[in-house]
Amino acid sequence: MYTFKDYYHNKVELSFQPQPFSAEPKHVWVICRYRDQWLLTHHLRRGLEFPGGKVEPGETPEEAAVREVREETGGIVSHLEYLGQYKVSGKDKIIIKNIYFAVISDVQEHTHHDETKGSVLLDELPANLKDDKRFSFIMRDDVLVHSLVHVPDNAGR
Ligand code: GTP
Repeated sequence: MYTFKDYYHNKVELSFQPQPFSAEPKHVWVICRYRDQWLLTHHLRRGLEFPGGKVEPGETPEEAAVREVREETGGIVSHLEYLGQYKVSGKDKIIIKNIYFAVISDVQEHTHHDETKGSVLLDELPANLKDDKRFSFIMRDDVLVHSLVHVPDNAGR
């Protein structure tokens, strides 16, 4: 278990055990690999980030992960695996988010134009990403660095 502060100084608890905080998380976040690149979305307000969002009523977290990747990047998920879960305790609310790794087989036009400019492919994630204002705040705490350690080796991290 890791505990640290996020970009806004909210407390984050992160674990790579199965469902450490909730069996029914309401948020998902998906680290995506397309061929030999990382697939991100360019969120209109937050900047570059791996896709994700809220689990809708009647949906499993895995279904939400596949849907959010499609909506925000146009990516078609061909393989999805659970990596871990984190809990952010903000002033007003607590959110619990599952982290997945996805292999993407194809990138089509994204569908959610009101939230994002769509897909961005990167050969490498910059070493100084935490200081890089092009990236969303959700990419700029220790969740990403710890999660990347759990991405399968053959995914080219
Ligand atoms: P609405 O209910 O649609 O208004 O959503 P919201 O804008 O309140 O956002 P959401 O419920 O997704 O998240 C609430 C708060 O949790 C955000 O303002 C962030 O402070 C925090 N949060 C959400 N996702 C993350 C994340 O991945 N990392 C971190 N560090 N904080 C997050």
